[in-house]
Amino acid sequence: MPAISVTWVLPDGNSRTADVQEGHNLMEAAVSNGIAGISGDCGGALACATCHVAVLEGSESAKTCGEMEDDMLDMVDGERSETSRLSCQLIASSDLDGIVLRIP
Ligand code: FES
Repeated sequence: MPAISVTWVLPDGNSRTADVQEGHNLMEAAVSNGIAGISGDCGGALACATCHVAVLEGSESAKTCGEMEDDMLDMVDGERSETSRLSCQLIASSDLDGIVLRIP
């Protein structure tokens, strides 16, 4: 499987970039790369919102959330933004290559 490049901007302003295999979701990728602030408590079941990110750079589809995700995002701890997503719902594909995510 090819990999894409994903960058996380951490709350302290530092950033981390990692290669993520296509087909993996970006919550799992954050957890396996030890990205602070993403815990993915529900394992990607759209039930916890501990995988909240804001898309700083990425395609329109990457910035647009689904309806159930939208409801969960209303309950997030950090401030919700226009491009907030639950990163367990972002699946690595060539469309997301070079995506930049901010941890709220
Ligand atoms: S990991 Fe729980 S909603 Fe994404």
